[in-house]
Amino acid sequence: MNVLAATTDIAIDVLDASATEAAIPALAEILRDCVANGASVGFMDRNTADDYERFWRDVAAGVGCGQIVLFTARHAGGIVGTAQLHLIGKPNQPHRAEIAKVLVHSRARRQGIGEALMRRAELAAREKGRDLLVLDTDENGTARRLYNRLGWTEVGTIPRFALMPDGAACGSTFFYKDLRPA
Ligand SMILES: CC(C)(COP(=O)(O)OP(=O)(O)OC[C@H]1O[C@@H](n2cnc3c(N)ncnc32)[C@H](O)[C@@H]1OP(=O)(O)O)[C@@H](O)C(=O)NCCC(=O)NCCS
Repeated sequence: MNVLAATTDIAIDVLDASATEAAIPALAEILRDCVANGASVGFMDRNTADDYERFWRDVAAGVGCGQIVLFTARHAGGIVGTAQLHLIGKPNQPHRAEIAKVLVHSRARRQGIGEALMRRAELAAREKGRDLLVLDTDENGTARRLYNRLGWTEVGTIPRFALMPDGAACGSTFFYKDLRPA
């Protein structure tokens, strides 16, 4: 098991489409690890490496057409975390974006990497003129504490919104963050 150094040794990068393609093996491993450790992030225990790689190829296409901003957290040993900013393309929501797939490999957690990814995603949203952010997460997951700590507002929880990797039902808690000055 790798032991990572302090968060100061972690670089947060924004990947273009070709860098995303090159990072697919590492990103697929992070997704596999999160699902294997019980995270409700869109996949089930039965999903395979092919499913994860296909997911990231679709993300690379989204990056290529400017719909997705992809962030990675990189340590000397490689990529250990990731997050996405989805720029809503609807003409009546030019101010809104969604945060998705905030994932940190289990060997690298509790060092501030999740928080660093979220802060970088918020900065990118501001840079792109998006000042209303939305996300949802497993009601019982550790990410809920992270988002509350970073000043996100809980809207509520929809019961049975999704499944855990083992098939158990789980609720999703929805959050928003208004980035406009108070
Ligand atoms: C949720 C997730 C992204 C958080 O990543 P992370 O890198 O561990 O996040 P952070 O380190 O910023 O914060 C996690 C905890 O570590 C603590 N922490 C941060 N730096 C620390 C340090 N140097 N020493 C000790 N604890 C530390 C934080 O206070 C926080 O504590 P809390 O959970 O009691 O509130 C990660 O757990 C994960 O990938 N989970 C599975 C996927 C998932 O559910 N993602 C959310 C989808 S919406």
